[in-house]
Amino acid sequence: MNRELIQLNHICFSYEKDAESTEGAPAPDALRDISFSVARGEYIAVIGHNGSGKSTLAKIMNLILTPTSGELVIDGEPVPHPDIPEEVLLRVRRKVGMVFQNPDNQLVATLVEEDVAFGPENLGIPREELTARVHDALAAVDMLSYARHAPHKLSGGQKQRVAIAGVLAMKPDCMIFDESTAMLDPRGRREILATIRRLNREEGIAVILITHHMNEAAEADRVIVMDDGVIRMDAPPETVFSSVQKLEELGLEIPQGTALTQALREAGLPVREMPLTPQGCAEAILHALGKEGAEK
Ligand SMILES: Nc1ncnc2c1ncn2[C@@H]1O[C@H](COP(=O)(O)OP(=O)(O)OP(=O)(O)O)[C@@H](O)[C@H]1O
Ligand SMILES: [Mg+2]
Repeated sequence: MNRELIQLNHICFSYEKDAESTEGAPAPDALRDISFSVARGEYIAVIGHNGSGKSTLAKIMNLILTPTSGELVIDGEPVPHPDIPEEVLLRVRRKVGMVFQNPDNQLVATLVEEDVAFGPENLGIPREELTARVHDALAAVDMLSYARHAPHKLSGGQKQRVAIAGVLAMKPDCMIFDESTAMLDPRGRREILATIRRLNREEGIAVILITHHMNEAAEADRVIVMDDGVIRMDAPPETVFSSVQKLEELGLEIPQGTALTQALREAGLPVREMPLTPQGCAEAILHALGKEGAEK
């Protein structure tokens, strides 16, 4: 078993020139010289402004798109391109699952349980195991009671949970979530994020979370910042989110905790750290006021 699950070495990708582009200038590469690796069990957030290349990067790792140049290695196996043999494609998709933004594009069957079974069935999982996998996956996203419902009658958030269960049932080593919580209400989002965290911590599934929510990214072990097809930062959240000026230059929000600390400093309260969470802020403010740990 390789520690490095996904390796990208100098990956470039360019969408074919848009026929309707009147300028005649070639489209800029969507990815330029991207190198990084994902280790087993890692929890990585990918952030970046609209059009910075996040979804393109995700699709390269799942082989929906083929790199224009560079080397992609999945679990120690170099992926040949441009022509990828079918068996390599299946092996990679089994290891790297992907959940998209719009669940409507992912649901195919007439019953929720059939939908969740669809992916693992295609991988040739035996019947008895299939039933258990579908059950566990639906339980993990709190949709067990909807097993025999019609997917198209569910709310957007419920559909997304079913879509996530469909990938979970394939027992991947890594799951990529491309803004998959975007259609959920705050409670649904919290539940899904808690599920994602649990899958990461307890099942050891590596997670790549593409998000526009800085507070979500702040929970990751590592944050990758994309900008116009290149990686600008690849560091722990504390490092990324304390680079306030750089984030603003890259068109990104700063997490509320960081913004609050910044405002307190400007107002003259010497807050030492740049906490990322409300709890961290409370502790840092108490510390700055000389009041350690309020009693619970
Ligand atoms: N199917 C496509 N054909 C041509 N160009 C595309 C296509 N999809 C994306 N692009 C271009 O590639 C670049 C990267 O797009 P991508 O969708 O990867 O960005 P993103 O970071 O996921 O953006 P968002 O935050 O809006 O989802 C953009 O310039 C975009 O216009
Ligand atoms: Mg995108």
